[in-house]
Amino acid sequence: MMLSKEFKMDTEKSAIFIIFGGSGDLAHRKLYPSLFRLYKTGLLKDHFAVIGTARRPWSDDYFRGTVITSLEESFDDDKKIMEEFAKHFFYQSHDVNDSEHYIALKNLAAKLDDQFEAGHNRVYYMAIAPRFFGTVAEHLNSEGLKTKDGYNRLVIEKPFGRDLDSACELNGNISKAFPEDDIYRIDHYLGKEMIQDIPNIRANNPKFEAALNNKYVSNIQVTLAESLGVEDRGGYYETAGVLRDMVQNHIMQIIGSIASDDPEAKDAGVIHKNKCDLFASLKNLTPEEVDKNFVRGQYDTDELGDEKAYRQEDKVAEDSQIETFTAGKVEFNSKRWSGVPFYVRSGKRMPNKASRIDIVFNEKVSELGIKPNTVLTLLIERTNDHSILINGIDYKESGQDFIKFPEEPEFTKACEAYESLIIDILSGNRVHFTLWDELRSTWKYIDSIRERWDSQKADFPNYISGTMGPDSAEMLLERDGNSWIWD
Ligand SMILES: NC(=O)c1ccc[n+]([C@@H]2O[C@H](COP(=O)([O-])OP(=O)(O)OC[C@H]3O[C@@H](n4cnc5c(N)ncnc54)[C@H](OP(=O)(O)O)[C@@H]3O)[C@@H](O)[C@H]2O)c1
Repeated sequence: MMLSKEFKMDTEKSAIFIIFGGSGDLAHRKLYPSLFRLYKTGLLKDHFAVIGTARRPWSDDYFRGTVITSLEESFDDDKKIMEEFAKHFFYQSHDVNDSEHYIALKNLAAKLDDQFEAGHNRVYYMAIAPRFFGTVAEHLNSEGLKTKDGYNRLVIEKPFGRDLDSACELNGNISKAFPEDDIYRIDHYLGKEMIQDIPNIRANNPKFEAALNNKYVSNIQVTLAESLGVEDRGGYYETAGVLRDMVQNHIMQIIGSIASDDPEAKDAGVIHKNKCDLFASLKNLTPEEVDKNFVRGQYDTDELGDEKAYRQEDKVAEDSQIETFTAGKVEFNSKRWSGVPFYVRSGKRMPNKASRIDIVFNEKVSELGIKPNTVLTLLIERTNDHSILINGIDYKESGQDFIKFPEEPEFTKACEAYESLIIDILSGNRVHFTLWDELRSTWKYIDSIRERWDSQKADFPNYISGTMGPDSAEMLLERDGNSWIWD
């Protein structure tokens, strides 16, 4: 995209992937298509194999058939190349609670390592329910699956806990079996091109970087909006809600990318330390401040009564107190950001899908040669080939030059988030994964909101499907003399 990430696609990687939950939705919809793209680029070629594991008794051939079917939904390549790719796939029936099964898995991995000369490298991918993460990690260690000569990397999907206590417990279990350096916690927003480009954009535009602080920024807004409802995920959603599902992880990580210090840092340790410092400076909320600074909503049917209200969705309680919308004001105690509100918002059944960061500058920014009150928008999902807007129009046509690029944007290299993250896992690059210290700070913050909400009954449903959420979300900003840029 803007300053495209450089991948050495000519460097073939070798590894045995063991995918727990190999028959599931995530594996088929995201992981196998991503691995296939890497196969087509040559990053994965001769020296890799994928073991899918789950309880159901599939044969290798049946498993390969399901993999090919999932590829056919996303690619129109010749079936022959899909079949060649699928020859690297093997299936092992496995119950995560059965120790014997890990021995079978270990033997199969060793056999495939010899067959494909995979360098004793292992990627253990947890595409299963979070309650199994700890059990699997412990068994991988106790049953001796970890190899001595290659690397052993553990990949964990969200959610990582449901509050600080459960996240601590999970982390304790996992870290008994794997050192922090070998744990790759996925937040797929960190795999998105725009989010990965933000440090480059900041580092390459000194005026913009000089303006990114409390002297020149009025407020920053992060919106992750979806037009759909919970669809068939009502059961999961009842255990989560948008605060846990979107704010604790994706929104906080997006804020981390725009607000951390030192965007020129290349070292993963330094980058993570800067992000940890930022999250450690989160201004914690008293119960009264939660009431003032965070609003929650739950969708009702639409104006015509055609759409289901959240409480009418499958596997959702008739009196559910789970929020499908939230908006809030996040603040930091840091020298750089003290006094700047970060307004965050995420919801289901909003008018459109949108993922964006709006940076609203104040009048003083003219000192830096940026027009007063300029709004810079970073579109996390590109729309009509636009990625960056200045006052609502493409930055190139805005008449302002504080954002420039040495080369014209390249729109051909779209790399899916999961594909990009798998490249990082294979390369041992931990920059785009979340560290435990970051999670600890963000969970602590989110817990204070959750606890307050759980202690009070909400007046749900309180917004109509297809609208911008409850009126209180507008009032949150109006009170400060601000307004949402995306409305
Ligand atoms: N789907 C997504 O888009 C998505 C997005 C973000 C995060 N995630 C996370 O990714 C993980 C997987 O989600 P999913 O949607 O793929 O779930 P899913 O479709 O329900 O798949 C779960 C998998 O786990 C296997 N499994 C269940 N119990 C097992 C056991 N006791 N032993 C061994 N395998 C077992 C299932 O196969 P059997 O029934 O045959 O055992 C199946 O392959 C979850 O942590 C989820 O939160 C998913």
